[in-house]
Amino acid sequence: MVNVLVLGSGGREHAIVWKLRESKVINNIYCIPGNAGILELAKTEQIKLTDVNRIYQFILSKNINLVIIGPEQPLVEGFSDYLINRKIKVFGVTKKQSQLEGSKIFAKEFMVRHGIPTSEYRIADDISKAKFYVEEMFKNSPKGIVIKADGLASGKGVIVCDNEKDAIEAIIDMIKNKTFGSAGEKVLIEKKIDGTEISVIAFCDGETIIPLKHSQDHKRVYDNDMGLNTGGMGAFAPVPFVSEMLEKKIYEQIMKRFLSGIQNDSLGYNGIIYFGLMIENLGQNNEQPYVLEFNCRFGDPETQVILPLVENDLYEIVSATLEKSLYKVNLKFKDKFAVCVVLASKGYPKEYETGKIIYGLEEAKSMNDVIIFHSGTKFIDNNFYTSGGRVLAVTSLANSLGEAIKKSYLAVEKIDFEGKHFRKDIGKKGLITN
Ligand code: GLY
Repeated sequence: MVNVLVLGSGGREHAIVWKLRESKVINNIYCIPGNAGILELAKTEQIKLTDVNRIYQFILSKNINLVIIGPEQPLVEGFSDYLINRKIKVFGVTKKQSQLEGSKIFAKEFMVRHGIPTSEYRIADDISKAKFYVEEMFKNSPKGIVIKADGLASGKGVIVCDNEKDAIEAIIDMIKNKTFGSAGEKVLIEKKIDGTEISVIAFCDGETIIPLKHSQDHKRVYDNDMGLNTGGMGAFAPVPFVSEMLEKKIYEQIMKRFLSGIQNDSLGYNGIIYFGLMIENLGQNNEQPYVLEFNCRFGDPETQVILPLVENDLYEIVSATLEKSLYKVNLKFKDKFAVCVVLASKGYPKEYETGKIIYGLEEAKSMNDVIIFHSGTKFIDNNFYTSGGRVLAVTSLANSLGEAIKKSYLAVEKIDFEGKHFRKDIGKKGLITN
């Protein structure tokens, strides 16, 4: 029997802990810092994720056999390397590998070097060079361009611009005004690709790559993809409009080339690789997937729909990834659809309210094939309170996408807190071809 520590505090980490709970080989699950939902399944400890020494002491004191790192920041800051150097088993890529997420320029150069389809781009670190590239790119990309801060910017460093003026303003904001600090010292100027976004998340041990079910996130705050970008307002999986032919293209042109790329670059890899894809001309003969971004960890809220569809023991898949024996894993999935609706606090994604009592969780949780994953919650004096922008992720499983959508929204209606807001159209795009 083993003890596992999960690092993180969101719905993604709740889903990881929930899935690990099914494992017969796990004795104790700990989570730092966790949230009120995770507390029902694991022991939580309030230590800052930057306090690596205290976390290390905690790992020793609890005889932890495996650490799973949820969010990207600790990976990019080298937390895995710190633990590996101390002989602690960790599921989370090294600092060097995490550049695939931590530097958009590193990722882009990797894609180009290994023939992975992606959009045309330029790199700039001064404004006059950037202006020149913007003008040049608008000439042959009338649909618009995308300005990206090179480093991590909490999901806010990607600005889609349909005119030169907005693009130059975005660049001045990043390079001169340092809106994203050092993350925006260099920028990527990219041709915009129109299409349909999907997420493909896979386990990779450096020799084998195994994808989970594809999913679709809903990044904008309001229905019909309107309003500001958020951390994700909901997701569904699998995506019915991803045909076998498209799956094959994604495997051949993206996953296989990724695998040979990390091998040729001697980058190595033991962890999760998340391909953020744009599918151009979906459903047509010239349908083409492009990589928008790599992430080196599970997605949020995608994890809240993809892990509940997995039959296998998550601990065993993670162990196989670390032992380079993924080729032995026969990943099995439930023949179901999963839909997750995120409930957010009033004001989110801008400044938001917290400290509101949450009602109806027990009733919603008692529904068949409904799982309530917590994101920003606290448990005080027998009540659950809101404590974050994204509060809960309500996931349902059903035999069809339509049923799963209905069930999730039924559960959503049972839950209440002051200022609760959510999208009403999660999964709708999948129904069009379902
Ligand atoms: N769902 C987007 C992300 O996890 O980055």
